[in-house]
Amino acid sequence: MSKAWSKSDWRAKPRVQMPDYPDASAVRAVEAQLSKMPPLVFAGETRKLKRQLGEVAAGRAFLLQGGDCAESFAEFSADNIRDTFKVLLQMAIVLTWGAKVPVIKIGRVAGQFAKPRSAPTEVVEGVELPSYRGDIINGFDFTAEARIPDPARMLQAYTQAAASLNLLRAFSTGGFADMHRVQSWIAGFTEEDEAKRYREVAIRIQDAMDFMAAAGVTSDTVHAMQAVDFYTSHEALLLEYEEALSRIDSTSGLPVAGSGHMIWIGDRTRQPDGAHVNFARGVQNPIGLKCGPSLTADDLKALMATLNPENEAGRLTLIARFGAGKVGDHLPRLIRAVEEEGAKVVWTCDPMHGNTIKAASGYKTRPFDSVLREVREFFAIHKAEGTIPGGVHFEMTGRDVTECTGGVRAVSDEDLHDRYHTACDPRLNASQSLELAFLVAEELQGRRAMQKAAAM
Ligand code: PEP
Ligand code: CO
Repeated sequence: MSKAWSKSDWRAKPRVQMPDYPDASAVRAVEAQLSKMPPLVFAGETRKLKRQLGEVAAGRAFLLQGGDCAESFAEFSADNIRDTFKVLLQMAIVLTWGAKVPVIKIGRVAGQFAKPRSAPTEVVEGVELPSYRGDIINGFDFTAEARIPDPARMLQAYTQAAASLNLLRAFSTGGFADMHRVQSWIAGFTEEDEAKRYREVAIRIQDAMDFMAAAGVTSDTVHAMQAVDFYTSHEALLLEYEEALSRIDSTSGLPVAGSGHMIWIGDRTRQPDGAHVNFARGVQNPIGLKCGPSLTADDLKALMATLNPENEAGRLTLIARFGAGKVGDHLPRLIRAVEEEGAKVVWTCDPMHGNTIKAASGYKTRPFDSVLREVREFFAIHKAEGTIPGGVHFEMTGRDVTECTGGVRAVSDEDLHDRYHTACDPRLNASQSLELAFLVAEELQGRRAMQKAAAM
């Protein structure tokens, strides 16, 4: 590492988006407790993920990252985790078919609790209260009491993350028997033209699977089909929690964040000299960096130098989130900054955070068409620049919610109130997520054609 670093250095740096706890001694007691707990993830796993992301950076793998905007204590259940995990695996199979390379799967799960907010307070019917900042910080209920930051919430978040990981580890080694009935996944799709397109792809994937089974390649015979690597990630926003869960890797002697395999820095907390960048710089995990419209080429260069001084492939993932229609204004200049530095990065597309609008009904939503359009712009620009579109990053759930509008089983503005459950931003539901995977798979076929042409 370039400059000396300690896990508490962030405390002397300017910080934004973090709570002011009213009782400092209560915070210290929680930190002491957390620092004695086992880490949630292990250093060897984070190293393995970094190697796999290195393959993504080189175009030999593709990244799928997805899950809740904000995990919540109230919505926590085995069924929710199972359903989201299942949809992510289904999406991964569709993407593997399109890309013909391994798909690296990372959930926004088991730690995705703290939220940056655009305003410090919110007003409802004339009453102004501090904003909700995620269940790890304060409560969602609109009362003065609930909105006071409570450090004990960190312990509940840790416990929920540990239980989530326990279940995910069981799912990822236990084999998901019903992953083989591809056509049943889209059973709920309507008879629209779009659905027909997906059905054709589903039939081709099913054919490939049936062929493999006939040839004796089944989950009973091939270990790789039984177990999947599934990783966790979250925005490392609440640095008291992150510091308390950081550990020294006994193999390398270097610090790692024990809170999740990959951590990322949000678009609002990426100040090159700020607390969040300082913390992330010292841990060995793969790091994500959200890149929004306000990121300058100079700041990106400074951030790459700070976060990845050895230019290690797989260490840094740049998560582009500009909004449909704006990718062309920002992505090319940032791609060029990366190329000028000869930096090895994973470029991935978050088509959610630049496309949030308020529906006439008052709900925060994201139109499916804008999400898709941003993904397409991302692929087209990488094609034009001759660089690698490495992955996608979605806010999604395995549940049948009505939070984003559109999709083949169209959700309208009027439907939003029906099953709107998110604790923060609107998520794609199971059907919209899978539909998007089919559409990204088409883009990936284009990526493959380009790579093949380049190799000739
Ligand atoms: C998020 O990923 O939930 C988020 C807040 O993103 P961003 O930092 O890109 O706004
Ligand atoms: Co969000």
